[in-house]
Amino acid sequence: MRADCVSHAALALIIAFACSSSGAETSGKVSFVREIAPILSDQCLGCHQPSKARGGYRVHAFAAASKSGDSGLMPWIAGDPAKSEILSRLITQDPDDRMPQDAEPLAATQVDLFRRWILEGAVFDGPDPSLGLHQLNPLTPHPSPPSAYKHPFPIQSLVLSPDAKLIYAAGRRELAEVNAVTGRLTRRLTNFPERITSLVLLQDQRRIAVAGGSPGRLGEVRIADLREDVQPTVLLRSADMILALAVSPDSRWIAAGGCDASIRLFDPESGLLKKTLEAHSDWVTWLSFQPDGETLTLVTAGRDKTARAFRVPNGELTGAWLDATDPLMATVATPDGRHALSGGRDKRITRWDFADGKSRGTLKLPAREVLQLHRIDNVLWALLGDGCIHTGKLEQDGKAGEFQPLSVKDDELSSFAVSPDGAVLVAGSRTGRLYRWDLSQPEPKPIALGHPFPKSQ
Ligand code: HEC
Repeated sequence: MRADCVSHAALALIIAFACSSSGAETSGKVSFVREIAPILSDQCLGCHQPSKARGGYRVHAFAAASKSGDSGLMPWIAGDPAKSEILSRLITQDPDDRMPQDAEPLAATQVDLFRRWILEGAVFDGPDPSLGLHQLNPLTPHPSPPSAYKHPFPIQSLVLSPDAKLIYAAGRRELAEVNAVTGRLTRRLTNFPERITSLVLLQDQRRIAVAGGSPGRLGEVRIADLREDVQPTVLLRSADMILALAVSPDSRWIAAGGCDASIRLFDPESGLLKKTLEAHSDWVTWLSFQPDGETLTLVTAGRDKTARAFRVPNGELTGAWLDATDPLMATVATPDGRHALSGGRDKRITRWDFADGKSRGTLKLPAREVLQLHRIDNVLWALLGDGCIHTGKLEQDGKAGEFQPLSVKDDELSSFAVSPDGAVLVAGSRTGRLYRWDLSQPEPKPIALGHPFPKSQ
């Protein structure tokens, strides 16, 4: 089986080029909905929301943001940027007063948007000033996906329904709903961002959380309803790609992270941002939840070569591994919840201890980039840069013996998902194909499910 594993490092590059630092240029009249609201929601909402209104000021909706906070100064006066408190707060040289507080100042182009918008009359161009910011912009649907694909679309993300009957695989601006036994495409779901990087099903199995965006222009997390054709809940719109998503086992929390290095915790029911964690200094590449009795831990990996563990929801840091030599791409906690397994460009999976942040050794695996990790009970699956999924059993503290590769002939796997009972694994490949393994079989063999998306001739 191992002979089928091809040496390939290109998969890692897909993530490497996912983000861009270029800002989008604008012209014409500034739109509150399209240009101001995303900045407020991304940079300000964390401290100025209904439940946590620093300085008595709230920005969760246009109506709220137009009212003054504790100072009594008007945030903006139409046509008069110089008298608008919000603008002074963005440009002041005094670091104690400058907003966003304790963070980099806004880019000059963003400050200019505020200035122009106020000068042009501070017009609200949305349907209802009391609507939440994140509900404004998303009312504009995403463009349609291609009707058919000229080239096979590499499958970077997919999920499997808990009964192992349906696969949802990410395409360009769409999800394919595929019968997980026959491989037949049953539905194409649309109104998604250009690139979809991460998918999770909520516990009710009726809703799916989808993260992605467009490099350098948009980051997004939305929750779509799989049964009914209702308006999606958009949790986040930000300036650059969202790369990682995780849902807590009880579906009470959704965590999202990406190119802006922030980790955001949402309540999927209200759609509200509850907490922002700013512990990484570069892209957040992976998130996974670990329930531990009464408490819940979020384990994270970043391009800043660190992996971390936080208590949810208070955000207390409970562990950090700072000694990795290269960017990290995936991490999971061990069954005892005291260690984590983390890896990435360093081409190994390191087991480290939350207590002291020290390495306790590495797993016996081929030296390849670590792209994705998943654990159920004591079974670990690791997708490596060789295009194979390596699976093995862990001890409580995360020590492991031999790993076995799941591989496909003449193709490289690029994503995978496992049913909650660990009996079925489905994977997507670089050539846009889907595969299935029945892991309860003594020697599981890949079943080819074909291409989910229509091909153009
Ligand atoms: C990390 C937390 C944090 C973030 C992020 C943040 N603020 Fe603030 N903001 C505060 C605190 C604390 C105060 C009150 C202390 C003060 O007035 O400086 C405040 C006060 C303000 C006030 C004055 C309110 C009043 O009337 O007294 C405005 C206006 C404001 N912020 C705008 C913004 C904008 C716009 C952003 C985003 C670009 C932002 N803030 C981001 C923490 C934050």
